[in-house]
Amino acid sequence: MKRIAILTSGGDAPGMNAAVRAATLVGRAGGAEILGIERGYRGLLEDAFVELGPNDVAGVLREGGTILGSARCKEFHEKPVRDRARAILARHAVDGLIVIGGNGSLAGALHLADPEEIGSGRPLNIIGVPASIDNDLALTGFSIGVDTAMNTIVEACDKIADTATAHDRTFIVEVMGRDCGYLAMTSAIAVGADLALFPEAGKTEDDIVNQIVEAVTTVRKRPSRRGRRVIIIKAEGVAVQVDRLKQLVDAKLHARHPDAEPASIETRVTVLGHVVRGGRPSAFDRLLGSRLANVAVRSLMAGQSYKMAAWMPPVELTEDVGQRSPYDPYCWLVDIKAVLAATDDLLKGRSSLARWRAGAFNDIEDALLL
Ligand code: F6P
Repeated sequence: MKRIAILTSGGDAPGMNAAVRAATLVGRAGGAEILGIERGYRGLLEDAFVELGPNDVAGVLREGGTILGSARCKEFHEKPVRDRARAILARHAVDGLIVIGGNGSLAGALHLADPEEIGSGRPLNIIGVPASIDNDLALTGFSIGVDTAMNTIVEACDKIADTATAHDRTFIVEVMGRDCGYLAMTSAIAVGADLALFPEAGKTEDDIVNQIVEAVTTVRKRPSRRGRRVIIIKAEGVAVQVDRLKQLVDAKLHARHPDAEPASIETRVTVLGHVVRGGRPSAFDRLLGSRLANVAVRSLMAGQSYKMAAWMPPVELTEDVGQRSPYDPYCWLVDIKAVLAATDDLLKGRSSLARWRAGAFNDIEDALLL
């Protein structure tokens, strides 16, 4: 393998730079030339290649975002567009591509390296590295960026909890996670929230409003004033808009507690938005990005393709879809097609992992409100 290109694609995630750095250093140590592609598949189509060497990746471990830039590129779903991309890669004599991103990015990689689509064109091997703050990719325990995002949410909620406690207030904090409530569930546990709302629970608008009103009423009866604040973490994927939720909950709370001073009972809303995606990567995300990229590049140079490097995968990963990496006992190399199929099941609530996540959280939540 003489030339390896690296791109970061989709939503940026803290720790992507650790992966770019490790891929560059490990690839160069193995004798390959390394090219970075700026702005993901969009940059590939615009021929935005840069050479990468040790100087270019020095000091990037502690930077959030991605030094290569990223983009979402809808046109990559079309074969003629991918044909153009393959021609550009061939012109740069690229033999292998490392794609660092989420499920959309891995789907793009799969089509790009599809032997049927390549036909008699220049062969191309690809390996994916999972990166998405949502932790919505299956067959990997963690994707790059999740840990930092969770820490950011916890830090923000700890701050909000100061005001909530001082004023006996109820806060609904909305966190990212397009189709997946993982961040809401896990950060709720770490924060000691009173309720987490996530799409996997499949609750109706009425259920959600009633659940919040019950939680507020229960918590407000606590004897100690310090325990009377209410923190609710809502995943953005829950279909009810947060402003509408506030209106519905406030109306019901006023009806339930007619004697309460309105300002003392109404909820406050904080939408954390893209704050959750940015910032200095945690030590774990730096480690994860480095180790997954190390496995990805070594596997690529050993002739592997169509695979994703995975981290300590859940028990549902078996030898028929992946093998433990010979380079790192915590990493597996998993068939990308299997990853995408399992991810679809996870996001549609069909997999045992999806059921386990929601079930385990519901059990914990019952205990939270005791
Ligand atoms: O997939 C990561 C993510 O941050 C989601 O949590 C969120 O819904 C989405 O990206 C936002 O994407 P964009 O920054 O393109 O609006």
